[in-house]
Amino acid sequence: MTFDRSIKIAPSILSADFADFGAEIRAIEAQGADWVHVDVMDGHFVPNLTFGPPLCAAIRPHIKTVMDVHLMISPVDPYIEAFARAGADVITAHLEAGAHTHRTLQAIRAAGAKAGLALNPGTPVEAAAPLLDICDLVCVMTVNPGFGGQSFIETQVDQVRRLRAMIGDRPIHIEIDGGVTPETAPRVVAAGADVLVAGSAVFKGGSVADPTPYGRNIRAIRDAAEGSAVAAQ
Ligand code: DX5
Ligand code: ZN
Repeated sequence: MTFDRSIKIAPSILSADFADFGAEIRAIEAQGADWVHVDVMDGHFVPNLTFGPPLCAAIRPHIKTVMDVHLMISPVDPYIEAFARAGADVITAHLEAGAHTHRTLQAIRAAGAKAGLALNPGTPVEAAAPLLDICDLVCVMTVNPGFGGQSFIETQVDQVRRLRAMIGDRPIHIEIDGGVTPETAPRVVAAGADVLVAGSAVFKGGSVADPTPYGRNIRAIRDAAEGSAVAAQ
């Protein structure tokens, strides 16, 4: 995985057909997805349950791009090795998931993955300052984590702007997760984001049998975002 700040669209398979993950992943990559985002929920840190390391290992052979694993679980540390062994390229843990996030980020890197730090909407981005030198990605949640299809929380745009200034020229991705659409994407990209997670806005209207809407949806988000990236320069 090389670092660059180009716009990356990362469809969340939380909005895919759970009975057909392999085909859904091949379809979104063929339709222009840059990364594949995997939302892991434990029914404890967030009020929803999804999947764990065996599912990640099973879908890994279908992913040609980047497997971006978002852990909405607490505790995190006992599961890091298993997600790394399952083939995660990026493992993102929440600052709010435990008392020892510094140790968690170090453990993710030691396991051979890129280390991501996620921040809930109620957490000021300034809380990430002491951790930035051991982060490869900071994920700014633009919804409260737990479910797809929620509305974008507008106040997070200013948080992204402040985080971008804090990061300076360090090679750290800013990822946005939740409520990303062609309408909201330009605002977060203008504020400094480069990885856009989108679930419902990518999968809507399409299926494995007819994946062309996935391509149209990805292009609509990318075009809107890139227009704003140019405008921001
Ligand atoms: C929310 C998840 C997101 C979510 C995004 O807890 O982390 O990745 O699936 O879904 P949309 O794009 O539908 O808001
Ligand atoms: Zn996510």
